[in-house]
Amino acid sequence: MIIGLWLMGGIALVFGMVVFVGAPYVPSKRREIRAAFCDLYRLSPQDTLVDIGAGDGIVLREASRLGARAIGYEINPFLVGIARWLSRHDARVSVRFANFWTTDLPPETTVIYAFGESRDITRMARRVAREATRLAKPLMFISYAFAVPGQHPIKQVGAYYLYRIAPLHTDKS
Ligand SMILES: C[S@@+](CC[C@H](N)C(=O)[O-])C[C@H]1O[C@@H](n2cnc3c(N)ncnc32)[C@H](O)[C@@H]1O
Repeated sequence: MIIGLWLMGGIALVFGMVVFVGAPYVPSKRREIRAAFCDLYRLSPQDTLVDIGAGDGIVLREASRLGARAIGYEINPFLVGIARWLSRHDARVSVRFANFWTTDLPPETTVIYAFGESRDITRMARRVAREATRLAKPLMFISYAFAVPGQHPIKQVGAYYLYRIAPLHTDKS
């Protein structure tokens, strides 16, 4: 009984602590993800999508359904376990226990998916721009629920915003 209470308290603490580094866990809706990967950005087997804050991995599995490779970064170890378990039969999906603020994107990344929160969205877009610069290629950035202030989306479908984030020009002179 006491152990159960400690365990539940620990789990609640981990879920609560996440607000200091990013958005708390709220899953995207499957119907909306499907619409986004069709009408906003047509995901294909040529894509590698990274969900920065993967939750239970629902976005990853939907991306994989369309043939894309899908990688999730998730900071909550319980959600990493759940996402891995739910995706265990899907060879195109992988889930990493990682903080997206400090973890580089894989070189094959083409699309980044984020369901963050308003506090973080500008910083997230800047992080993606730095990664586009490091990888020396443009990256597609799909943001659910939050527009990036001061940036024009190339498309909007429902609550989704699509940005093409180009490498930053660095002055090497
Ligand atoms: C709003 S949920 C979105 C979950 C999933 N992307 C979806 O759309 O269904 C945000 C997720 O990001 C995770 N998260 C928050 N900060 C993070 C960070 N710095 N690094 C990795 N994951 C983070 C949370 O634990 C949570 O699962």
